[in-house]
Amino acid sequence: MKHLLAQNENPFEPLPSVRAALERAIDDLNRYPEFRPVSLPRTIAAWQGVEVTEVIVGTGSAGVAHDLFRGLLRPGDEVLHSNPCFDVYPMLCEMTGAESVPVPLGGDARHDLTAMAGRIGERTRLIVLCNPHNPTGTVYTWDELTAFFARVPPSAVILLDEAYVDFAPDLGAPEVAARLADWPNLVVLRTFSKSHGLAALRIGYAMARAGIVERVVPHQVPYTPGQLQLAAVQAAIAADDEVRQRIRRISHQRDRLRRELITLGWSVTPSRTNFLWITTGDPDRLELARAAFEQNGIAARFYPGQAIRLAIGDQVANDAVISALSLLP
Ligand SMILES: Cc1ncc(COP(=O)(O)O)c(C=O)c1O
Repeated sequence: MKHLLAQNENPFEPLPSVRAALERAIDDLNRYPEFRPVSLPRTIAAWQGVEVTEVIVGTGSAGVAHDLFRGLLRPGDEVLHSNPCFDVYPMLCEMTGAESVPVPLGGDARHDLTAMAGRIGERTRLIVLCNPHNPTGTVYTWDELTAFFARVPPSAVILLDEAYVDFAPDLGAPEVAARLADWPNLVVLRTFSKSHGLAALRIGYAMARAGIVERVVPHQVPYTPGQLQLAAVQAAIAADDEVRQRIRRISHQRDRLRRELITLGWSVTPSRTNFLWITTGDPDRLELARAAFEQNGIAARFYPGQAIRLAIGDQVANDAVISALSLLP
């Protein structure tokens, strides 16, 4: 496939400063990283304005989510999440013996918070909310979210997955420290895979009160993340202006592509991420799109009979999408 748009990746190659930092870090490849990571949590804590005791780092945010499930759940505990959602969450339920409780998205492709609140029961131990959501790209404001948080009992942890939050920084959420002060059962999960474009390095982190962090860290595999991850994170944080500029370029391409697809007769949910959720009432058209993408070397994620989830690529890839779909009846 020429155009890799199936995994919500960042289309840009590493920033020069990140590449240089990684090249320097290669000198120490014969050395083990810290047994329990200290420098990376310290770097992230200083950057985010939280205590180092409030940070968990791990192998991508999927890896951190895995450690959270291991640390916080016992077999038979219930995990509430939307359906569809990021594929890893139902998998993690299976891996930990927790019971997945999927709640269909609302008609606006957002979490159905009313239905979710109604599904909270005695065994509910974790509620996963991706904001923005994958696969639909939809968001809630902080006020809307906290109205829901107020309905969650202290026996359940709220896992707020903000993998795409840098594409939607204007939702009224306070700094993370203030969020943790107000909501003792909140975990904020982030990644360097999306806006920072470091998916291959597998760097994720979560921020939560120390009491939650202490339950999770003993379940983490020692010696990860390593010194390459630390070097890349320090350089990426220092390159904030360039990262923001790339986010603006991706968002600009996203909005252009959305307009073009609507002109071609597709329904495209307004997105606050680096991908689009493209639907049609006509399943045959979806299949035609799948064939057109295959012929043109475009990899996208198809939800059979339902939708296409398409990452925003570079201009060449986005133009390839438009021209492939332009030929459809
Ligand atoms: C909502 C959401 N959370 C987490 C992840 C995992 O990202 P990573 O493990 O690369 O940090 C993804 C990746 O697509 C995602 O869409």
